[in-house]
Amino acid sequence: MNVILLGPPGAGKGTQAKRTAAAFGLKHLSSGDILRAERKAGTELGRKAQSYMDRGALVPDELVVAMMADHIARPDAAKGVLLDGFPRTRAQAEALDRELARMGNRIDLVIDLAVPDDDVAGRLTGRRSCPKCGAVYHIRFHPPKTDGMCDGGCGALVVREDDKEAVVRQRLKTYHEQTEPLIAYYREKGLLRQVDGSRSVDQVGAAVDALCRGAQ
Ligand code: AP5
Ligand code: MG
Repeated sequence: MNVILLGPPGAGKGTQAKRTAAAFGLKHLSSGDILRAERKAGTELGRKAQSYMDRGALVPDELVVAMMADHIARPDAAKGVLLDGFPRTRAQAEALDRELARMGNRIDLVIDLAVPDDDVAGRLTGRRSCPKCGAVYHIRFHPPKTDGMCDGGCGALVVREDDKEAVVRQRLKTYHEQTEPLIAYYREKGLLRQVDGSRSVDQVGAAVDALCRGAQ
C-alpha cells in the first residue's frame, strides 16, 4: 500500500506519519526530513536546497523528484511507502505517478489533513524537533517527557530554521499557491480522503488509521 499525506505546513503530517507508518509496516518518507539530512551531511543537493528552504520556497521539482524516486526504489520501501510532504506540485505528482507505474505500482490513498492557517502558526512556533530521529513535539500540545530532550534518548531537541514567523507566512503562501491544487488532482482520480486535522493528535490519528485500514 502506498499512501500520501497532504496538508499545509504544521498540519501534523510528520506527527501522524511516524506512528501510522509503524502501525501499517510502511516506510515513512518525508521529503523535508530527507532534505534536512542532506543539508546536515553537506551534500551538493543539501547545499542547493538550503536557500529555498530557508525562505519558505519549494526546492526545484527535478531535484526533489530524483531524490524521492531514489528512496522509493530502495529495498526498505518495498512493502509500501507513506509519503509526507511529497508530492508538492502538479509536476511532482505526475512524475510520481510515472515512477510508480514504471515499478508496476501506484498510489492507493491520499489523505488531506485540513487545518486552518491560524492554527498552523501556533503549532509551528511551539514545535521542537529531534534532529537525530525526526520525532516531533510541541511545547504545549505534545511536550516531551523531559523539557527540551527527545523521548527516544537521542539528546537535545531543536527549533527548525524555517519555523520563524516570517518564513512560516511564506510557507503558507507557497502551500496555497502550489500544493493546494493537488487536492483537486487527487479528488479527480478518486483517491482523496479528507480528515479534520484541527482535532487532537489521537483523534486525527484514529481517523488516519481507519482510512489506511480501509485501503489495505
Ligand atoms: P517540510 O519539512 O515538509 O515542512 P512542511 O510541509 O512545511 O510541514 P511541516 O514539517 O512543517 O509540518 P507537518 O505537517 O509535518 O507537521 P508536524 O507533524 O511537524 O518541508 C520543509 C521545506 O523543505 C519546504 O518549505 C521546502 O523548501 C522543502 N521541501 C520539502 N518537500 C518538498 C517538495 N516535495 N518539493 C519542494 N520542496 C520541498 O506538526 C507541527 C507541530 O504541531 C508540532 O509541534 C506537533 O507537535 C504539533 N501538532 C501536530 N498535530 C497536532 C494536533 N493534532 N494538535 C495540536 N498540535 C499538533
Ligand atoms: Mg513535517
